[in-house]
Amino acid sequence: MLSGKANVIKNSKIVKEPLYVSELYGFMYHKGKIGQLMDDDRVQALISCGFKKKLVEEMLEDIDTNSNVLQIGCTFGSQMQKTADKIGRYGTYVVIDVVQEQLNRARNQLIDKKIDFELHDARKPLSKKYDAVICFMLLHELPEVSRRKVINNALDAVKQGGKAIFIDYNKPSDFNVLRFILKPFNRLCFPFIEKLWETPIKNYAVHNNHFVWDKKTYGARMFQKVVAVRKVSDEKKPESKPSFY
Ligand SMILES: C[S@@+](CC[C@H](N)C(=O)[O-])C[C@H]1O[C@@H](n2cnc3c(N)ncnc32)[C@H](O)[C@@H]1O
Repeated sequence: MLSGKANVIKNSKIVKEPLYVSELYGFMYHKGKIGQLMDDDRVQALISCGFKKKLVEEMLEDIDTNSNVLQIGCTFGSQMQKTADKIGRYGTYVVIDVVQEQLNRARNQLIDKKIDFELHDARKPLSKKYDAVICFMLLHELPEVSRRKVINNALDAVKQGGKAIFIDYNKPSDFNVLRFILKPFNRLCFPFIEKLWETPIKNYAVHNNHFVWDKKTYGARMFQKVVAVRKVSDEKKPESKPSFY
């Protein structure tokens, strides 16, 4: 079974895995056993200080049933399953990833869901437009140059009136006691995160004035949800009917 059907991995393209993935996160994304462990929602709850469920719920609020959705990067736990359930049978859900093993793992786990999996490097432009584009806990893993490309490609793939949803880490508030542990932990595991702490996601967008931006934070500002809704340009707005009077 090849293209045109749900739950197919389209891998006709040659996609080179970025070095930041293989060097820094390969132990999670290539190793089956670690991937299986990370897939457990209890493990996800533990490493997100209990916030993963809340973040998934917050993301789902911005996803419409029957809509066309793109997600950049596979996730661990039940986030993709819940998103597929929310979109339903009459929408479309495409998940792209640059790591074949991650796509294989997700596909095997979600074989009964209507999801199209595609091998694609999100630093390269996307060919289609969507009602919603999700980046769930991806940006903090990316080096600055790649982060800028991924954010702009995600935004470019949003239809007029559609939205990009970014869920990620945020700079914790001074009252967040976890920040003392987070700094050394991040320097070791997520070396690119601090730049994301310092830079509003909106500031990476080349055409940020084409969108209406909204930001919420959670867990003493440890996490953020940024939603960018693409404005409808004047020529696409439905003509208002002349008044009878
Ligand atoms: C979306 S994040 C999520 C991981 C996080 N720990 C979680 O489950 O919440 C990680 C995924 O993004 C993928 N990824 C990283 N860089 C990418 C890129 N340039 N294009 C597409 N996918 C990418 C990785 O291969 C990985 O599967």
